[in-house]
Amino acid sequence: MPVTVVVGAQWGDEGKAKVIDLLAKEHPVVARYQGGHNAGHTVVVGEEKYALQLTPSGVFYDTVTPVIANGVVVDLPTLFNEIDTLTSRGVSCEKLKVSTRAHLIFPWHQRHDALAEEGRGENKIGTTLKGIGPAYADKARRVGIQAGAVADIDSFAVAVRERCEAENVLITQAGGEPVNVDDAVAQFTALGIRLQPYLCDTVNFLHDEIAAGSPILLEGAQATFLDLDHGTYPYVTSSNPTAGGACAGTGLGPRNIDRVVGISKSYTTRVGAGPFPTELTDDLGDRLVDIGREFGTVTGRRRRAGWLDCVMLRHAVRLNSLTELAVTKLDVLDTFETIRVCTGYRIDGHEVANYPDLPEVLERAEPVYAELDGWQSNSTSARTPDDLPPQAQALIRLIEEQVGIPVRIIGVGAERDDYVLWDSPA
Ligand code: GDP
Ligand code: IMO
Ligand code: MG
Repeated sequence: MPVTVVVGAQWGDEGKAKVIDLLAKEHPVVARYQGGHNAGHTVVVGEEKYALQLTPSGVFYDTVTPVIANGVVVDLPTLFNEIDTLTSRGVSCEKLKVSTRAHLIFPWHQRHDALAEEGRGENKIGTTLKGIGPAYADKARRVGIQAGAVADIDSFAVAVRERCEAENVLITQAGGEPVNVDDAVAQFTALGIRLQPYLCDTVNFLHDEIAAGSPILLEGAQATFLDLDHGTYPYVTSSNPTAGGACAGTGLGPRNIDRVVGISKSYTTRVGAGPFPTELTDDLGDRLVDIGREFGTVTGRRRRAGWLDCVMLRHAVRLNSLTELAVTKLDVLDTFETIRVCTGYRIDGHEVANYPDLPEVLERAEPVYAELDGWQSNSTSARTPDDLPPQAQALIRLIEEQVGIPVRIIGVGAERDDYVLWDSPA
């Protein structure tokens, strides 16, 4: 039975949650595979707007079992806040499962994140300060605490105390404020007890679901160019959002996956520092930010904005084995007279078609643009390909031609039903 991965093809906030909400209708299991509460995934249902950080975006259907898989780093205060808020708004989280192998985030991770950012001075990454990098670092240096540890709450409390005391030494040395050990132990013991009923061996659960014939949706957070290995290092997150990360992050094998949906806006945004070849620092960039409401869901920061970059998208196809693309926020371009799409880079006088490997080379990339006429009419009411203005259809065809895979879904507004299923009309 099919397993589908949804992955951001740019620098995040592409509208993954809205597409996952759409696909979740056909997938009884939706599993998040990496990242943590650095993610902000927005789903708009009628008058209600939900911004999820940890809970998989399939939670709005009572037919869906939402799973936080082993590759996620879990901040328990955020998780339970989210569960309480969703429950109070009538969204049940009773079926939520949290992997015993997922690693936990603790207050010392957030202190380290802040200290590291301060220490970088001018070269700040612009992290979300949620402790994501330090939590994954602890996992890699094999001192992390897994969610399953709360099953034995007394030894969990001892582990929290030991880790907190050890980290306080480092925090103090770096000039930071130590974490109150007794408070942390008390807070996390209570949260640990609350976590117990949600714990699950999600690896076996997911394989059993596949064996029983259930289609599964794997939800990526962040995006391809924030990937620890393939993004614009060091201006990246500390996990692997690329589709390969969905295997490590869930325990499914590569041959379990048959569909990989890349999500791209009809333009590009980035929040935080790092190279961005098609960035617009003029009025056009401001227009994209204003019309697209490009402010971070988690941190409220203004996003940087620029034209669509097909060099990046072609690389995203390679890195993720993308089988199709969803192009979101087409409506944001409704008022533009002219629309530009980057089709190549000029680097040191030479035109290149492939995404460069080094950030310092990317810094020197000058975009080569194709220019298209805008449509200057409202696209939000479009529901079929033929409803889209001819100029918008031409833009989608250019993207397909440039990227080499079909576009299947087009977002034309923030509402749940604001989309077009595109099947390349003649
Ligand atoms: P994610 O992190 O990839 O899930 O994306 P975010 O939720 O952080 O940011 C996407 C924003 O765009 C949210 O405010 C969505 O409600 C909104 N959105 C998603 N798709 C569309 C679309 O097609 N058109 C418009 N105008 N807004 C959209
Ligand atoms: P979603 O899932 C956009 C960015 C941060 C920073 C870098 C590292 O909503 O698309 P981190 O806190 O992860 O160590 O920060 O990554 N970043 C995101 N940008 N969308 C996200 O998530 C992001 N999660 C992290 O701004 O540049
Ligand atoms: Mg987001």
